[in-house]
Amino acid sequence: MIHPYPAVVPKHIAIIMDGNGRWAEQHGYPRVLGHRRGATALRNVVRACVERGVRVLTVFAFSSENWRRPAYEVGALMHLFLQSLRREVRRLDEAGVRICFIGDRHRFDAPLQTRMREAEAITAKNERMTLVIAVNYGGRWDIAEAAKAISRKVASGQMAVDDIDEAVFAAEIQWADVPDPDLLIRTGGEQRISNFMLWQLAYTELYFTPVLWPDFKAAELDRAMDWFSSRERRFGQISAQLQE
Ligand code: IPE
Ligand code: IPE
Ligand code: MG
Repeated sequence: MIHPYPAVVPKHIAIIMDGNGRWAEQHGYPRVLGHRRGATALRNVVRACVERGVRVLTVFAFSSENWRRPAYEVGALMHLFLQSLRREVRRLDEAGVRICFIGDRHRFDAPLQTRMREAEAITAKNERMTLVIAVNYGGRWDIAEAAKAISRKVASGQMAVDDIDEAVFAAEIQWADVPDPDLLIRTGGEQRISNFMLWQLAYTELYFTPVLWPDFKAAELDRAMDWFSSRERRFGQISAQLQE
């Protein structure tokens, strides 16, 4: 039987793709192989999200803290990132996916930065789904960057201090043109945010699953979306007001 798609499809899903290392250890493989399987899982989840009509998918691929890992693992992740971009961009383009990156990309080497720019340029006009890839991203970095941009406007006289409000901040946060995530999925069993989108997750529904990222398939996505469908999002109001 084909699984009926969830009743309520979140417009924006964000995923903390965690558990590659443990998956590899459990199977007796080196951690790097877990990351490779993780890249395959991502390819499948992107396709599943497109099929289900998700408008934006944001994935946490590399945090600003992940540079602290052993050099060989960081190197392997960078290699995999470059290789995946080479292999996947055309397929994503054909599927109507727009690719964007958030994070401080200056720390990456030149060929990788070039590929990232190319991927964004090639897919810029696609409208079926936006895939936001967070690399060298940190939620606190994002907020600090927004504060810097606003401060520059104030210093140059374009804006008064009293004009600064939540809307001004939201407009400076990375990829301000996409709505905040409706559903955050974290695989791998940890129940923490690990410095992901701190500003944007204010009213996001949080779904934690012990499934390790390389094992996360379309059926797991449907489970998360079913759970999301059952949530009552009150945004500070009371239940009775939502029925009005
Ligand atoms: C997530 O998997 C991938 C990255 C952080 C790049 P991990 O590598 O964190 O896997 P675990 O948490 O060690 O199992
Ligand atoms: C979060 O996973 C970052 C990514 C998935 C890219 P980590 O494995 O780095 O998180 P912690 O260290 O367990 O909090
Ligand atoms: Mg981890």
